[in-house]
Amino acid sequence: MMTSPLRIALIGAGAMGRQHAGYIANEPNAQLVAIADPFSDALATELGVTHFNDHLDMLDNVRPEAVIIANPNDLHVDTALDCMSYGIPVLLEKPVASSREGAERLLNAQRQYDTPVLVGHHRRHNPVTMRTKEVIDSGQLGRLATITAMWQTCKPTEYFEADWRQQRGAGVVLINLVHDLDLMRHLCGEISALQASTNNALRGYEVEDSAAILLEFENGALGTLVGSDAVVSPWGWDQNINEVPLYAKHLDQGCYYLAGTQAALTVPQMRLWQYAGPHHWGHNLNEQTLAVADGSAQQNQLRHFIQVASGKTLPLVSIQDAVRTMIVIDAIEEAAASRCTTHDPWLIYTPCLPEQVAKLSTIQCRRE
Ligand SMILES: NC(=O)c1ccc[n+]([C@@H]2O[C@H](COP(=O)([O-])OP(=O)(O)OC[C@H]3O[C@@H](n4cnc5c(N)ncnc54)[C@H](O)[C@@H]3O)[C@@H](O)[C@H]2O)c1
Repeated sequence: MMTSPLRIALIGAGAMGRQHAGYIANEPNAQLVAIADPFSDALATELGVTHFNDHLDMLDNVRPEAVIIANPNDLHVDTALDCMSYGIPVLLEKPVASSREGAERLLNAQRQYDTPVLVGHHRRHNPVTMRTKEVIDSGQLGRLATITAMWQTCKPTEYFEADWRQQRGAGVVLINLVHDLDLMRHLCGEISALQASTNNALRGYEVEDSAAILLEFENGALGTLVGSDAVVSPWGWDQNINEVPLYAKHLDQGCYYLAGTQAALTVPQMRLWQYAGPHHWGHNLNEQTLAVADGSAQQNQLRHFIQVASGKTLPLVSIQDAVRTMIVIDAIEEAAASRCTTHDPWLIYTPCLPEQVAKLSTIQCRRE
């Protein structure tokens, strides 16, 4: 039986952990009861919450009803497995794992433990996302033909002082474009093939700093996603929508452009473009701004997590779902490294990589 407010503990008290603590403070149905972080007790001291160096110690002593994991990517799997083995529901920051092998272990654990895990692809909880999905699903755009997406900005030098951020598994594709890829899958459907180029030409770290990705969706729509964390640019979800306070805002700029046979949509401004009469490139388009409900993505995500942890609903982003995005990420990495001309992350992932098919089938992420 869960209590109200729900007793939540935080594992990892860095930049993201601090944000989660803020969302919990704003949520009457949640209470932060402990923080585990071996390298810093600053947030715990500031908030007057019990601090632990070791999350297992914390789980043993505090027995929280739910846990938010916001430690470095390569610890996500082991930490989540620990919490699942205690039967404690988890909100696991994205990416769900930093490797395919890790994702596979989590999927197997999900079969073993009946513990709900919500993956932190918070953008899906944004009212703009919900409205965009409604518009696409209602057929207002006609047949969706293309999506053009961008996430480009300049991370400061200090960001890379944490070594893990320079190393494989923490580049712009896995850390940032993972959100766009998750949203593109959510909005446009599963990805059936892709091509990609990445490079580290601007910063020279082991991780990539720029990427260009070409996508084919199962429904026949085509997409491009261009990203960089080392350029000057106002285009990207985080700059174009009031969601993550860290970013300077350019709210008049769009980052997703969707075009269908009946209409086009600029996101996140929700500007819908349509012909008044016959479709003709010589005719002006009418522009209309669609209404969107109020609400914060992260706060909505936390409320959803409370429902998930209380067993009242299933996670909007499950481990299985997040692993599908991981498989796309993996395919991007392989496509960029091998310069294959086409990749199907589910089925034809293999002209270059025969051994991957067996792996895909063992984690049961192939389409039915
Ligand atoms: N959803 C989003 O939009 C979003 C945004 C930023 C970061 N993130 C994710 O959040 C996670 C953390 O990112 P960050 O930017 O806060 O990084 P960060 O480096 O600022 O914080 C990581 C924290 O984890 C702590 N830590 C290290 N080992 C630990 C352990 N064994 N147990 C507990 N804590 C440990 C570190 O001391 C640090 O305080 C990453 O997985 C990242 O991908 C998500």
